Amino acid sequence: MLLSTLGALIVSSLAGLSVAQDDQLSTVTNQSTPIASLYGDSFKNAGGKVLTEQVNVYVVFYGNWTSLQDEQTTFMNFIDGVSSTQWFSTLRQYTDSDGHGVTGPLNVAAAVNDAGSRGLTLSDANVHKQIILDAVNSGYLSPTNQIDPNGIYVLFAGNDVSDSEFCTRNCGYNSHSDQFQYMFIGYPGTCTDYCIPPMIHDYSPNESPAIDAAVTIFSHEVQDLLTDPRNDAWMIQQNGTTIELGDFCAGSDVPDGEWYGTVNKIEEKNATYNLEVGNQKFLVQTIFDLENKKCVLSKS
Ligand SMILES: *[C@@H]1O[C@H](CO)[C@@H](O)[C@H](O)[C@H]1NC(C)=O
Ligand SMILES: *[C@@H]1O[C@H](CO)[C@@H](O)[C@H](O)[C@H]1NC(C)=O
Ligand SMILES: *[C@@H]1O[C@H](CO)[C@@H](O)[C@H](O)[C@H]1NC(C)=O
Ligand SMILES: *[C@@H]1O[C@H](CO)[C@@H](O)[C@H](O)[C@H]1NC(C)=O
Repeated sequence: MLLSTLGALIVSSLAGLSVAQDDQLSTVTNQSTPIASLYGDSFKNAGGKVLTEQVNVYVVFYGNWTSLQDEQTTFMNFIDGVSSTQWFSTLRQYTDSDGHGVTGPLNVAAAVNDAGSRGLTLSDANVHKQIILDAVNSGYLSPTNQIDPNGIYVLFAGNDVSDSEFCTRNCGYNSHSDQFQYMFIGYPGTCTDYCIPPMIHDYSPNESPAIDAAVTIFSHEVQDLLTDPRNDAWMIQQNGTTIELGDFCAGSDVPDGEWYGTVNKIEEKNATYNLEVGNQKFLVQTIFDLENKKCVLSKS
């Protein structure tokens, strides 16, 4: 565990980041036929690597998170625990050319708070990447200031941060540089109708629709990053848009029953969930099961 309080970056909590692509919660493309039925039979690895074995996850909480520390913990608990679920095991069938599939575990290796070193109005993916590099160079994400080329960097913007595409074109997206892959997630509470799934809009499993929605967004982006970290593996280029695994089971043309599978209710909270991780409950999107050509929460 690292702990530091120098400069703009303050470590808050530590346990145990293609082509830029927009992944709106609601839809990535505007087609009338679901992606799974269009491409389910032809989906294959274009030859690139997938992220196998342990994948370290580095979280940069950007902006003002001082009153949201429980939410940060909930978010990191999900990441640290999700790879032991049947949901995650569905990713094993996504292999590289040597037959190595996505196994996990995911491990939150480090997390930092950056109160806003590059301002609170973010313009584009270049700034997102720079913020991640700043965090790496600060030494708070790794003792040696090294980029982890096989890790996943998560830039999670707080509720005081605005971004040129967040809330208008996406709720989160994944992308990469030559050296690392990452996802950006905006604070879903900023535009609740756009970025919080309707079924957890008012009541959510962890009594924070914004953080529970961030987990749902993560459950999409992590599928893309694990199976297509550099936009050369499990992806389809279609008419200028990149379609990745997470896009198969999400979108305005995908019925809720496929998007989220069979959901349950926590009666006392009136909250909907579909996955238990440790002692917490979450709403994740389904994963495309290549073998059975279905969107599933679990293969078994
Ligand atoms: C999506 O398709 C609908 C109906 O075909 C159309 O009205 C709408 O403008 C399209 N949206 C985008 C973002 O292209
Ligand atoms: C951060 O948020 C807290 C709680 O919302 C607030 O009290 C504090 O003033 C904010 N800090 C800054 C630097 O804006
Ligand atoms: C490809 O994109 C162009 C321009 O956005 C659009 O007019 C065309 O219908 C698209 N084709 C397909 C197959 O989606
Ligand atoms: C429970 O949630 C649903 C929608 O999620 C809402 O329509 C209903 O009014 C809620 N019930 C209570 C008792 O709050």
